[in-house]
Amino acid sequence: MLGGLCACAVAPRSVDWPVYGGNAGSDRYSELTQITPANVGRLAEAWRFAMDEPGDSQTNPIIVGRTLFAYTPTLNVIALDGATGRLLWRFDAGVQGAAAGRIFTGPARGLAYWSDGHESRLLAGIMNRLYALDPRTGRPIRSFGEDGAVDLRKDLRGDYTQHYVSLTTPGVIYKDLIIVGFRTSETKPAPPGDLRAYDVRSGRLRWSFHTIPRPGEPGLETWPAEAWRSAGAANNWAGLALDARRGIVYAPTGSAVSDMYGADRVGADLYADTLLALDAATGKRLWHFQGVHHDIWDRDFSSPPSLVSVLHAGRRVDAIAQPTKQGYLYLFDRVTGEPLFPIEERAVPPSPVPGEIAWPTQPRPTLPEPYARQLLTADLLTRRTPAAHAWAERQFAGFRSAGQFVPFAADQPTVLFPGFDGGAEWGGAAVDVRTGVMYINANDVAWTGMLVRSTPGGGLAAALYQAQCSNCHGADRKGSPPAFPSLDDVAGRLDVGQIAAVIMNGRGRMPPFSTIQSSTLTQLIEYLRTGTDAAPAAAPASPAPTGQKLEMGVSLSSEGGPAAYRFTGYNRFLDPDGYPAIAPPWGTLNAIDLNTGRYLWKIPLGEYPELAAQGGPATGTENYGGPVVTASGLVFIGATIYDHKIRAFDAASGALLWQHELPFAGTATPATYMIDGRQFLVIATNNARNRSAPQGAAYVAFALP
Ligand code: HEC
Repeated sequence: MLGGLCACAVAPRSVDWPVYGGNAGSDRYSELTQITPANVGRLAEAWRFAMDEPGDSQTNPIIVGRTLFAYTPTLNVIALDGATGRLLWRFDAGVQGAAAGRIFTGPARGLAYWSDGHESRLLAGIMNRLYALDPRTGRPIRSFGEDGAVDLRKDLRGDYTQHYVSLTTPGVIYKDLIIVGFRTSETKPAPPGDLRAYDVRSGRLRWSFHTIPRPGEPGLETWPAEAWRSAGAANNWAGLALDARRGIVYAPTGSAVSDMYGADRVGADLYADTLLALDAATGKRLWHFQGVHHDIWDRDFSSPPSLVSVLHAGRRVDAIAQPTKQGYLYLFDRVTGEPLFPIEERAVPPSPVPGEIAWPTQPRPTLPEPYARQLLTADLLTRRTPAAHAWAERQFAGFRSAGQFVPFAADQPTVLFPGFDGGAEWGGAAVDVRTGVMYINANDVAWTGMLVRSTPGGGLAAALYQAQCSNCHGADRKGSPPAFPSLDDVAGRLDVGQIAAVIMNGRGRMPPFSTIQSSTLTQLIEYLRTGTDAAPAAAPASPAPTGQKLEMGVSLSSEGGPAAYRFTGYNRFLDPDGYPAIAPPWGTLNAIDLNTGRYLWKIPLGEYPELAAQGGPATGTENYGGPVVTASGLVFIGATIYDHKIRAFDAASGALLWQHELPFAGTATPATYMIDGRQFLVIATNNARNRSAPQGAAYVAFALP
């Protein structure tokens, strides 16, 4: 953590946040103690850097010396004076612009900084390119890769121009290597999610680890023969952790394509949904743990793991903690891969869908208890109003709800709880390295999912409508005016562009469906206008980069080859007023003692301002972006979507000590650092997750006056 290591006894004047997540161990822990539980109440805004750009901003900035490095929502790299917020330089790689009617926007969650003491460079992912920039000027270093950047689509498989690859979470630096994963498509075609290490000086590929094994590599037997030629994803998009002393990099991966239907990948599908421990110098696998066998629920490992040292059964163990979407937290000896708390393989139900062979068991750790609820039952439905409750009961009666790992059925929604966005997400957890206590925020809302049989002559738009729109607009498209407009006659009121805008951006109570691909959108609009369902459009060769939320976004498309069943879409189970249709808490912050596996505290996190104004118990809300913990005993977190607040909690008790309204939602992980003896806290803000709120983005920094 320390910027210039100080041999003197006095407190350091400058402390960096030089790595995404604070340090290579990914613990979001800071040794700073200037801001304390006693004075945090006086924390005030120090500077603000506003960005007049649309889109998502999930960046955890890095701070080296006096300079803060970050992204704007449209993927410009910026350098700010960390003490004042003054812009020092801006690098625009020129990717911004309309593509399929969209602007390329983030997320770009952070950058990596390398220095050998003489020379230094900034490694910045911008879509499929990994740039090396001069930290003083922001100019590409032309000797790196091809004219300053490596094209990450290359050296995977087949024709690289057909791949969708984007470096959304930064790599880690190990000696003179930058180790990276990437984001890719959720449906076929998708390249294999190889982990790769590049030389920081030349950009030359130094090693790659095949997350989908090739002939001669162990794990190949967990796939059907020849599947490796076309299987895709199993990619690391959530970030990495590094044990620099031992030279081990930890890489959690996501599911293989297609996310929800795996008839063409029958088997356990190693190394999808796997925590990999690799030799950082060579990429050789040291150990692995698969969290979901044959994933058919998009249960990616969606968070970076954190290094931690715990006292376990009287023995000091260097461990690694891996959160999940399910709400499970896994803890392993990070050298051997031995679980510290036993992991049980539990029997789970088979798939009712032809062709799908679900894996018969799935793992679950015996401790800690999950940090999100596990089973949606009728008594957990919303009681916000009698009408909402009655509505939720009617809906729930039509769902299948039986806990974790229930394979999706065709033509009946299945509850996924916690939902597609966790449990835990990409923000990761914070760990107080002195105590071994982990602070982790979680979503606690239910979603539903369903498959439909692909009918070659059409049917996708109608199926999509029934799955995504009929809840509000009625199976007959007549809605229930005035709350939910009839779409029966929409063609008489709106033109194609206006209909597309409502669907993509949402309006009022209607959520945005911004992840629908353009070919599918065209069919859906045609279906709304004519009431008939056109044949599916020809599949595009590769998915258009759809900007935000691709992790969970593209399965609505009609592409993906001959899969017999398609997923109808990601549905939050919301009541007619747009609130989760289940009982609160809808989002939480948890403190878990990793030495014992026991909870120290658990509190709701976030509020809907209009519900909070009515009084009543705290509801919590969905939240994205992780916490930071400091040596003075403070946990800082933004993350909440609707109240736009950043908060400080007492690490020991969970008591709220400070909160401050941000210009937009702080749905990113904060960073804390010290310049000239003054401690700052900075967070990226934007409203991309709530389109009915004013859009915009800003970095906001706080300090004691
Ligand atoms: C959670 C409820 C909800 C869902 C789900 C929903 N809508 Fe809507 N929709 C609404 C509401 C409410 C409005 C009116 C918004 C306003 O003007 O404030 C609306 C408006 C519209 C309009 C504009 C109608 C007009 O006359 O101006 C279109 C078109 C539309 N929705 C299409 C869709 C499609 C297509 C889907 C599925 C992909 C969908 N909606 C899903 C609630 C919903």
